[in-house]
Amino acid sequence: MPNQTLVVPAYVKNAKLIAWVADMAALTKPANVYWCDGSEEEYARLCQQLVDSGTFVKLNEAKRPNSFLACSDPSDVARVEDRTFICSEKKENAGPTNNWMAPAEMRATLSPLFDGCMKGRTMFVVPFSMGPLGSHIAHIGIELTDSAYVAVNQKIMTRMGKKVYDVLGTDGAFVPCMHTVGAPLEAGQADVTWPCNKNKYIVHFPETREIWSFGSGYGGNALLGKKCFALRIASNMARDEGWLAEHMMILGVTNPEGKKYHVAAAFPSACGKTNFAMLVPPAGFEGWKVTTIGDDIAWIKPHADGKMYAINPEAGYFGVAPGTNFHTNPNCMASLDKNVIYTNVALTDDGDVWWEGMEQDGGGIPAHLIDWQGKDWTPEIAKATGAKAAHPNSRFTVAAANNPALDPEWDNPNGVAIDAFMFGGRRSTTVPLVTEARTWMEGVYMAATMGSETTAAAVGQMGVVRRDPFAMLPFCGYNMSDYFQHWLDMEAKLEATGGKLPNIYCVNWFRKGADGKFAWPGYGDNMRVLKWIIDRVEGKAHGVDTMFGVGPLFDELTWTGLAFTPEQFNTVTSIDKAAWADEFKLHDSHFEQLAYHMPKALIDTKVAMESRLND
Ligand code: OXD
Ligand code: MN
Repeated sequence: MPNQTLVVPAYVKNAKLIAWVADMAALTKPANVYWCDGSEEEYARLCQQLVDSGTFVKLNEAKRPNSFLACSDPSDVARVEDRTFICSEKKENAGPTNNWMAPAEMRATLSPLFDGCMKGRTMFVVPFSMGPLGSHIAHIGIELTDSAYVAVNQKIMTRMGKKVYDVLGTDGAFVPCMHTVGAPLEAGQADVTWPCNKNKYIVHFPETREIWSFGSGYGGNALLGKKCFALRIASNMARDEGWLAEHMMILGVTNPEGKKYHVAAAFPSACGKTNFAMLVPPAGFEGWKVTTIGDDIAWIKPHADGKMYAINPEAGYFGVAPGTNFHTNPNCMASLDKNVIYTNVALTDDGDVWWEGMEQDGGGIPAHLIDWQGKDWTPEIAKATGAKAAHPNSRFTVAAANNPALDPEWDNPNGVAIDAFMFGGRRSTTVPLVTEARTWMEGVYMAATMGSETTAAAVGQMGVVRRDPFAMLPFCGYNMSDYFQHWLDMEAKLEATGGKLPNIYCVNWFRKGADGKFAWPGYGDNMRVLKWIIDRVEGKAHGVDTMFGVGPLFDELTWTGLAFTPEQFNTVTSIDKAAWADEFKLHDSHFEQLAYHMPKALIDTKVAMESRLND
């Protein structure tokens, strides 16, 4: 839009925003600028445009009403951590776990890339609130993007639309989120169905609270409210303002007496956070109810009443499809009935979707599919080539409102009071099923040393253990050791208000037996662990002291409906001395890597645990 004046809707009154949009339009030179209003009519219109351009396939209206499938370029299928940067003024403030470049150097790198990057495309102005509109815990972002796919996903994932401008007013603050797929169209050039660029930059300027994303249209690289804003930028806001921005799901759990508790749990990507957030209690837990507040991110503020209140800043779920079925997550399957955007799953011959894991729902494996790369797929081809029908990181985008287990408080602007934190990685050995930290310090230690075997949510090698402190490794927008200190500081802060700190638990659903198979059934059966946690919060379960916190006694877990022997229980709860001796060595090198500003108290905690192990 080089030589045109920007037409601004009358309801947009924020001078800083208008000036920024004008500047960005002058830089990126789109063919036009479109201000999203967030209406249903707009959503339908943009989805139709995406169908017309070939990015979306409309699914069978009888089977999946108002739902679409998008398949990405095969080079653009996951978050790109090696192309993600925290550009703080000082390198040490980004810390050793983040890629860093000096802000001036990064700006000089990005400038020519963004110059003219939207040529021939529409720039969408996407106003969104992370958190309930107007909540004191919420924050506003404005994403500028040349992807209609991003605009419609943001409508589901955030509170997106005109009402945001009422909250923003004439001088309210917003986080500018600049996004381009990095594929300008020269005059007459035909478009592709998934434009993107080989060169990718996912950039955060923490001091100025800005996000610049170039070259990818996928997930957390492009839906900038999620990982970029709600975690990397928000973790900086949270540190400065005394709250927490966490990679946590939040659930409500109500016991048969009607007493309700709230639990926030951090697990690395693709470790079943969405499944746990939507858990259906198994037979034997009649009267227990689990309800979802969020499935991925929590913003948590200490309150004057001494409690920590959490909101889910998002309004939808961008969940991993493969492995989701009526056994692993029945509530999720029910929520995927209608109004869903699917990305990189397979298409059935009758216009429905399919992914690996669905065969367990009784329908078997389809005889023919179109796979996520648009190729014919049959069980025979899969056998011969190993081709997956759905990409392992394929996703559904669905509104929280679709979830039959949605908690009535999920949209409460004041949030919900947290009673317990859980931290869990994917570990086939060493880490027990569940232990409770004896102190806040011990809980922070457990979270700071968490490790997990890697999955498909990020590009990279699969199945190796990487330390993923607080499940925040790819998401903490500042020095990880300072982040540990920030968590440690919460203790004194809450105690000063006379509050009771939430208990902290370390869990591991993924321990394997000598046969190499998962030894714990997981999914709905995780309710057995959740109930023990609530029993501990209520002071009903005694537990047993271990080297790594307080664990459950066999008889303290409810076993109704599950044949699980004390021997099996031992397999998932035992502390193997030799494995822990090795584990502590790995903690040492982890702490060495984080030596700059590493809180000494955590090192002391390690020494105390190690000596307990040797006793
Ligand atoms: C996600 C992730 O998509 O953690 O939630 O990668
Ligand atoms: Mn996540």
